Amino acid sequence: DSSSSEQQQSILVTGGAGFIGTHTVLQLLRGGFRVTIIDNLSNSVPEAVDRVRDLAGPALSRNLQFYLGDLRNKEDLEKVFSETRYDAVIHFAGLKAVGESVAKPLLYYNNNLIGTINLYEFMGKYGCKKMVFSSSATVYGQPEKIPCVEDFELRAMNPYGRTKLFLEEIARDIQKADPEWRIIHLRYFNPVGAHETGHIGEDPKGIPNNLMPYIQQVAVGRLPELNVYGYDYPTKDGTARNRARTGEENPSFGDLRCKLENFVDEIRDYIHVMDLADGHIAALRKLFATEDIGCVAYNLGTGHGTSVLEMVAAFEKESGKKIPIKLCPRRPGDATAVYASTEKAEKELGWRAQYDIEDMCSDQWNWASNNPYGYQPQP
Ligand code: NAD
Ligand code: WQD
Repeated sequence: DSSSSEQQQSILVTGGAGFIGTHTVLQLLRGGFRVTIIDNLSNSVPEAVDRVRDLAGPALSRNLQFYLGDLRNKEDLEKVFSETRYDAVIHFAGLKAVGESVAKPLLYYNNNLIGTINLYEFMGKYGCKKMVFSSSATVYGQPEKIPCVEDFELRAMNPYGRTKLFLEEIARDIQKADPEWRIIHLRYFNPVGAHETGHIGEDPKGIPNNLMPYIQQVAVGRLPELNVYGYDYPTKDGTARNRARTGEENPSFGDLRCKLENFVDEIRDYIHVMDLADGHIAALRKLFATEDIGCVAYNLGTGHGTSVLEMVAAFEKESGKKIPIKLCPRRPGDATAVYASTEKAEKELGWRAQYDIEDMCSDQWNWASNNPYGYQPQP
């Protein structure tokens, strides 16, 4: 009826065809929002959006529209903003591969910075001043202390990380200049898993950079083994593992031997993508409810650290597949141990992660075993 459709809020989701975007769009539709996606499909496929429609069903899918467009192109933005009025924007669109950003810094600065600046311009022009932005734990760099707390000093280790850092700063300036803006930065830790139906999930192009997509491709036979990156300590007394877990300064790499007893794998805060999706709904509700929120950052993590080898073991258990591994020296720039303080998000957003490592691995495997080639048909 007209009164309920008047109350229905309309959200623009940039990058909504991607990994985190698809899961969030589904939860938005289920939460009663109208959703418009703009995506240039540079790292995604139309099939992903079709599957979101399948999962949402025909009635809710009527609330979803898709524009093929690029945030760097102002004509695309003019079309998207002039045809619909939005109550808020969730901004996922961006390039995210750390290694590629080192090789192609201009591509990353161009896509992530110009795209986002254009988006802010159009939001301002059309009077939509509520933003939820995809930031990242990457803005903590190699944290001196763990867990990472939102008011830590920020630093970046690579061009990708700098795009997130700069975009957080730019947003703070925009909000300072015009206090009508309400901006939430969500700093995701390590997003993994997939929707429980195994119908949507992560489908990176080329050889995966991230741990779980890599493990998944080993499990389905697309890759032979997993390289496990970490540190080789010249001690035998087990203190190394303790050091890694407490986040003290990285010991020097020293003489690399890669013997299992001296090898210490890295600790990360893996978070289920459906928990992340719900975190975005919580952030939106907070934006709508809080007039003077300003520009504020929240960690989205579980608060628990898991080592790479623990993750491999959990995946093997949930999938029943053996994952052959090779112990390797750490990747340049990788931190020893990173996990989130979740206090601020719990207190102010009323959100906390619900899924554990076993859920993440079983849902990842469900997606992988049903879709060994992601959204592509098996060759
Ligand atoms: P993704 O690549 O799956 O999704 C991003 C989407 O944005 C893709 O569909 C891509 O086609 C689109 N896109 C990129 N540039 C665009 C442009 N100029 N115009 C229009 N569309 C464009 O990535 P994801 O994992 O879903 O990540 C979403 C966001 O979260 C990104 O900003 C990423 O940096 C951030 N993030 C991701 C992780 C992670 O590990 N996945 C961690 C922290 C932060
Ligand atoms: C996780 C752990 C690796 C691959 C990156 C970005 C960060 C954020 C999330 C976007 C690490 C180890 C990995 C492999 C391995 N993205 N690993 N073998 O590096 O924590 O974070 O993605 O914002 O900004 O830097 O994630 O999934 O690459 O690695 O042993 O083949 O798995 O060393 O300890 P990372 P990851």
